[in-house]
Amino acid sequence: ERIRVVPSPKRIKSDAEDVLMDKRRRGGIEAAEAVESGMDVGLGTGSTTAWAIAAIGWKLREGELEDVRGVATSLQSHDLARELGIPLTDVDEFDSLDVAIDGADQWDPEHPHVVKGGGASHAREKLIDSMADRLVVATDDEKRSTPLSHDVPLSVLPESRNVAQEWVRDAGGDPSLRYAEAKDGPLFTANGNLVVDCDFGEIDDVDARAADLARIPGAQEHGLFVEMVDEVVYGTDESVERVE
Ligand code: 5RP
Repeated sequence: ERIRVVPSPKRIKSDAEDVLMDKRRRGGIEAAEAVESGMDVGLGTGSTTAWAIAAIGWKLREGELEDVRGVATSLQSHDLARELGIPLTDVDEFDSLDVAIDGADQWDPEHPHVVKGGGASHAREKLIDSMADRLVVATDDEKRSTPLSHDVPLSVLPESRNVAQEWVRDAGGDPSLRYAEAKDGPLFTANGNLVVDCDFGEIDDVDARAADLARIPGAQEHGLFVEMVDEVVYGTDESVERVE
């Protein structure tokens, strides 16, 4: 409860959003329990993970944690962690990390898979999350789905946008190029790629889908994280639950 003083990373716009942000706050703060003193920690991206980052920063300040090094998955999490006093290190200084805490756009309670990339950071997230001995996903109960059915983001070289969308159609998907929030042009990732959101409906065979996306010419990374999740910590209306 003391962590309530840390401002929410998103402005609260309505009661419904207030309830949702409360769930994410619970999930994020509880997920930070996975961090112990001396650990090297992958810091994910998004509004839920922001609460985990806030909790880690708070514990460091209070002396409940010490000697923690963070590796950020995006500029957004880097800036937040720096503001909160978490020591940061570059990813290429590590071969592995002790734990990563990251969010998800959808998670499967029966299988260790998630869809990520709502913040267009899935390439760096996949790299850092895959380096961790333990990946803890911080999320909420509204994003639960078996099978996964969320649009899968695919980052592509700008010049391959048309070819990539054609390949997605051939694989039975419905692609759409992601636009920047102001809608004044396509959204570019931090690495200068475009994002094609791929609607495949229900994804019954995640391995096959992941293979389809990986073989697209010009594809850089897709947002299906297959068999990567060790634990999901998710906020509900009143509590926080976990699935291992
Ligand atoms: C960014 C991500 C985020 O983790 C995902 O979009 C969830 O974000 P939020 O917690 O704000 O719903 O994958 O690329």
